[in-house]
Amino acid sequence: MEAIAERYQRFARSEAAGRSVLYETMAQHVAGSPDALTFLSRLPGDRQQPNLLFAALRLIAGTPASVSEFDHAIEEHAEAIAEVMLTRTTQTNEPGRCAALLPSLARIEGPLALIEVGASAGLCLLPDFYGYDWGRQRLAPPTRSALAVPVFQCNASENTPLPLQHPEIIWRAGLDLNPLDVSNDEDVAWLETLVWPEHHERLARLRKAIEIVRTERPRVVAGDLRQDLHALIAEAPGDATVVVFHTAVLSYVVDQSDRDAFAAGMIDDARVIWLCNEGPRTFPRFAEAAGPVHEEMFLLAVDGQPVAWTGPHGQEIRWI
Ligand SMILES: C[S@@+](CC[C@H](N)C(=O)[O-])C[C@H]1O[C@@H](n2cnc3c(N)ncnc32)[C@H](O)[C@@H]1O
Repeated sequence: MEAIAERYQRFARSEAAGRSVLYETMAQHVAGSPDALTFLSRLPGDRQQPNLLFAALRLIAGTPASVSEFDHAIEEHAEAIAEVMLTRTTQTNEPGRCAALLPSLARIEGPLALIEVGASAGLCLLPDFYGYDWGRQRLAPPTRSALAVPVFQCNASENTPLPLQHPEIIWRAGLDLNPLDVSNDEDVAWLETLVWPEHHERLARLRKAIEIVRTERPRVVAGDLRQDLHALIAEAPGDATVVVFHTAVLSYVVDQSDRDAFAAGMIDDARVIWLCNEGPRTFPRFAEAAGPVHEEMFLLAVDGQPVAWTGPHGQEIRWI
């Protein structure tokens, strides 16, 4: 219970503070609530995450307006909330992350064959379908879609090389342990609930991106990045540069040795350019090479070389 309380305090301090008053308040509350801690302690360790609890609770009981509503929801719906926490995982799909990836993608000689590992519903597999606003430069969405297209805002440092064109992507595929299906209402409800409560703009653009994915249907196959990636790479057309990327995924691969083996495989594969956009603890040696560590940001590395610090939702890019 002490370890769970610490985890929720850490979440309140370093993840929720400044981003969601509600999640910060609820996480602090959980850390001091014997009832909530008891509820969590009955779940397996990998099912006790704050994001999972809060999303499951909101899915079942709606967004609580106060800690007493939170307590009431746990009391009334403990079984249903636990059921969601045991069957769902935090598969937050944030297409806004494309804004932090695009400067690097656009520097690679195309045409590209794009492979995303940990693709969730595949919303980040369509970076060439979205618009971008980096403050000092915009990239308008392509006009080919009749749908409302999201324009992702991303605060870019002065030295960030901003693209004037979308990359040419001629083939794309995703890989995920559990691909989410945007034509399935329950999957869509889960994707929406994973967006933090005050993040109305993120939710609106998620919905737009879902509509585009519903039309474009990028392929996301079920599989584990540790075993199944090479078969997917082998399918990519020979005349394209293969780019493998991932954002907010490798922290779910718990063993550092598995992460390192994956990284070694990517660096050694001469056919692949590898974009890794993850928290700095995922690959500590990349973070060491990047100068002072920004714990609250992701580190974007290309073939193992740090290139930028990025906002976890793609809201910022600081080129190194
Ligand atoms: C937090 S989501 C991020 C989704 C997407 N990359 C994004 O940034 O919007 C992490 C995803 O990684 C997937 N995942 C975790 N471990 C994986 C593994 N070993 N192989 C394939 N996918 C994995 C999860 O199922 C989940 O959909």
